[in-house]
Amino acid sequence: MSLKDKINPQRLPKHVAIIMDGNGRWAKCQGKDRLFGHQNGVESVREVTEASVELGIKFITFYAFSTENWNRPVDEIEGLMHLMIQAIENETPTLMKNNVRFEVIGDIQKINKETKEAIERITEKTKNNRALTMIIALSYSSRWEIEQAIKTIALEVKNGELDIDDINQDLISNHLCTKNYPDPDLLIRTSGEYRISNFLMWQLSYSELYFTDVFWPDFKRENYYEAILDFQSRERRFGKISEQLNK
Ligand code: IPE
Ligand code: IPE
Ligand code: MG
Repeated sequence: MSLKDKINPQRLPKHVAIIMDGNGRWAKCQGKDRLFGHQNGVESVREVTEASVELGIKFITFYAFSTENWNRPVDEIEGLMHLMIQAIENETPTLMKNNVRFEVIGDIQKINKETKEAIERITEKTKNNRALTMIIALSYSSRWEIEQAIKTIALEVKNGELDIDDINQDLISNHLCTKNYPDPDLLIRTSGEYRISNFLMWQLSYSELYFTDVFWPDFKRENYYEAILDFQSRERRFGKISEQLNK
């Protein structure tokens, strides 16, 4: 029985979030530069996206570039933005074929015009696709997102559009970039790092966390199936006790 066949289609995560880490170290191990690692990471994004469509997962979020990643060497940043444009151009037909909607979350004001235009093109082109929503977190961080949400809420209160007593958890969720998506059920981080790195901190409150030592460019279908199987072995209690579940 293959790993894929062991997956229970009734217990799939609705939303998987992935911190794609380890591209640089993967390249270094082979005596190549960091960009070579990022280039090879695109293939993993494709495999995991296709596997998600095949399984019937509805949302997948890839952490591609954090607000802190703006502090990397300029060459690497430019290489990554160029790679993003290239990947968008190359992958659009496959996303259309697979009925995948492409969306970006993050502080895109900071992104160069060319990359922004490529993002706008693919978002518009894929907007009616429904099998899977693929979300790219680009120039994203959770603290940035929460800061924006607080400013907007404060402004609405100031303008009299909102009462302080209207502020609750749902309202906060509805002011985040992820307002149209369910919270992730499963978070995967590759490359043997055990941290969140400013990713979806509000939304990950009750996500199952899965860490693997595999570097992102080596993370392929079978690794993804393993993560989903691991997820399916967990008991999600949301604060209750076992005996209260499934009643
Ligand atoms: C993840 O790989 C991709 C981005 C953060 C853009 P890294 O570039 O962080 O690779 P490592 O962690 O240095 O190996
Ligand atoms: C997290 O990876 C961000 C992305 C995967 C885009 P980093 O490599 O930037 O995280 P840290 O700096 O090791 O925490
Ligand atoms: Mg890293």
